[in-house]
Amino acid sequence: MAISEAEVREALKQVKFPGLSRDIVSFGFVRSVQVEGDAVAVEIALTTANPQAGETVERDARAALEALPGVREVKLDCAVQAPQNAPAAVPARRVLPGVRYKVAVASGKGGVGKSTVAANLALALKRGGATVGLLDADIYGPSQQMMMGCTDKPRVNAAEKILPVDGNGVAVMSLGFLMDPDQPVIWRGPMVMKALQQFIEDVEWGTLDYLVVDLPPGTGDAQLTITQQVPLDGAVIVTTPQDVALIDARKGLAMFQKVNVPVLGMIENMSAFVCPHCGERSEIFKHGGGRRTAEQLGVPFLGDIPIDPAIVLGGDAGTPIVASHPDSAAAKAFLELAAAVRRQVER
Ligand SMILES: Nc1ncnc2c1ncn2[C@@H]1O[C@H](COP(=O)(O)OP(=O)(O)OP(=O)(O)O)[C@@H](O)[C@H]1O
Ligand SMILES: [Mg+2]
Repeated sequence: MAISEAEVREALKQVKFPGLSRDIVSFGFVRSVQVEGDAVAVEIALTTANPQAGETVERDARAALEALPGVREVKLDCAVQAPQNAPAAVPARRVLPGVRYKVAVASGKGGVGKSTVAANLALALKRGGATVGLLDADIYGPSQQMMMGCTDKPRVNAAEKILPVDGNGVAVMSLGFLMDPDQPVIWRGPMVMKALQQFIEDVEWGTLDYLVVDLPPGTGDAQLTITQQVPLDGAVIVTTPQDVALIDARKGLAMFQKVNVPVLGMIENMSAFVCPHCGERSEIFKHGGGRRTAEQLGVPFLGDIPIDPAIVLGGDAGTPIVASHPDSAAAKAFLELAAAVRRQVER
């Protein structure tokens, strides 16, 4: 029985746009479908800043078409176009106008090393010559004031804007500056929103190439508020190799998809321990789960960070490892992460 055009479109609906929950048909990326006997010809035109997305879509679309019963020949034309620079239209409200790229660091699970990654990513971007700010949006457990070695408190300028504090050459803002370290933060939803809004609107961030946003763990209100208030250019998801962390990483990914924030990729932290004496590598928490999960979810894998006691010491002492041991394997992994982030947002 001859195959119909509708069946072909239905099959293409299984192909999700990488990093998003919507399929390429509902996005309008399928330009034409032609069926002649057992031969199918499809034209897809994608607009994306991520060339890997083009490859993934082409591969998945081909697989979906070839799997259709009755199809013997597939002709697929997949054109990828980078988005044009923003047209002259004036956005409704400009948030953080002096900041070029806003990148969030997130995780579904707590304690996987989000703040460590955020701090070192900020420093690695800075080493690449960028001006960088770091917003600690983890209002429940702020830690960047300590990790970044900020000794001053924020001051207020003549325009009554809060000035971020310098930490290792990065402009840092954290609720940790304003809190009693011994008191837990017990906030209700509206207060969370207000605090985050102040961090975005009342802080004089100035001109920055990057603002790295350290999100609180999980996928609740605070995370959603930030992702809705800041026009994020992308998010990096941190995971550890254990299955529990990987399950939560998927939830993190789903949250960004819901609010249409591109997921730049996934990074696996604490992936193996390399003995400082003999150099032997021990995979304490298994290995490779981050890469596999990233592949399954169709997002780039951005590398793995080894377990290194110098990371703990650096974080506690206010000199993250990229600054304290720039030649270590972990620092190199962070520098590669920064390069990958740069490539993706600049595209
Ligand atoms: N690769 C690593 N090697 C060794 N220790 C690490 C590594 N990554 C993070 N740590 C340590 O693990 C602890 C937790 O890290 P971190 O605070 O960055 O996690 P987090 O995800 O931000 O946590 P939270 O969810 O509480 O905000 C810290 O003490 C940190 O120094
Ligand atoms: Mg943290």
